[in-house]
Amino acid sequence: MSESIPVAERLSAVKPSATVAVAQRARELKAQGIDVLSFSVGEPDFDTPKYIREAAKKAIDSGATRYTAARGVPELREAICEVSAKRRVGVSYKPAECVVSVGAKHTLFNLALALYDEGDEVLIPAPYWVSYPEQVRLAGANPVIVQTSEADGFNMTPDALRAAITPKTKALILCSPSNPTGAAYSGEELRALADVAAEHNFWIIVDEIYGQLVYGDFEQKSIAEVAPELKDRIIIVDGVSKTFAMTGWRIGWMLGPEYVTKACEKIQSQATTNPSSVAQQAAVAALRGPWEPMEEMRQAFEARRGIIVDGLNAIDGISCGMPAGAFYAFANVKALIGRRGGGKTLETDIDFAGYLLEEARCAVVPGTAFGAPGYVRISYAASNEMIREGLNRMSEAVGKLE
Ligand SMILES: Cc1ncc(COP(=O)(O)O)c(C=O)c1O
Repeated sequence: MSESIPVAERLSAVKPSATVAVAQRARELKAQGIDVLSFSVGEPDFDTPKYIREAAKKAIDSGATRYTAARGVPELREAICEVSAKRRVGVSYKPAECVVSVGAKHTLFNLALALYDEGDEVLIPAPYWVSYPEQVRLAGANPVIVQTSEADGFNMTPDALRAAITPKTKALILCSPSNPTGAAYSGEELRALADVAAEHNFWIIVDEIYGQLVYGDFEQKSIAEVAPELKDRIIIVDGVSKTFAMTGWRIGWMLGPEYVTKACEKIQSQATTNPSSVAQQAAVAALRGPWEPMEEMRQAFEARRGIIVDGLNAIDGISCGMPAGAFYAFANVKALIGRRGGGKTLETDIDFAGYLLEEARCAVVPGTAFGAPGYVRISYAASNEMIREGLNRMSEAVGKLE
């Protein structure tokens, strides 16, 4: 047998997705017949609304089965721009300023390849979505993690941003509402960050994939709305996955300067040719509405948010703030680190998540995966019954810790 040929060196610094790994472990246990409740996934538990599925079926029958323009069909880009203009007051984009990709993750990957050179620094507030730093590394650039604190609601302060900027700063990636914390920036907070960014010249990439999943009286704002003067440096990333329960369809997009869309289109044309023709038609239907099914899902998430946060805070040793959006509770478990369970000392949040999986048969993602040791992320994209059952199991397992 010949010697194995090594994979590319660029992969040496890149980690596989931690959230995908936890979900995989939960699936393995389930396959063994173990009744695991998975709170680790980042996708709505709802089916894609019927009118969207019907539109996709119609699209297949009417021949939307061929290659499309690399950046996506015009009618989808038009629909994206129209919905964006309604949601982001005072900022409008033309279809030429939009590229549709195979999910927002792919959009961000295109942007990483299009914008970052070797040695560039990309600012990423922690806790961060797991793919941001890895994509930056894959592009040969360096992620610079900016710590936030629970006391500041996990939002990056203008001072922390200012302190992290160097002449090598090429971009800042903001996620609001955030995965994993559910924290979101108010208009004033975004304005204060924009004031700092305005003193420098780097890209502001805003991931607004959870922008329509906000709760209570929180008012979702885009930095593009509050800092229109920075529009030529702002890139909005969005998609259908979370809002429309369309994770498997793989449609996401960017809105930004035309020359950046051309760069992303060039990359995409050599990588995927185009996003799925059928999924694009489904996304057109999704954006055209009716929006009632999405509002129902949003309300369901809001109700679950209350159940999970109250339930977590009722467990001795766990505390959890009320997230403004998305569908994640980010619970502080620092008080439980150092306790003994399952025959060993829980030294880290990773050990604690492992203990919950084995003892409570509940899968949660350790905060370390998001650059935030001492926390766990619990997705509440699950039924009320499952959330209640999970809380009971977690409470029981934590009660057993010595
Ligand atoms: C913050 C954030 N951005 C982007 C994505 C990717 O979404 P998509 O399914 O559109 O690739 C996710 C999915 O988990 C996410 O949580």
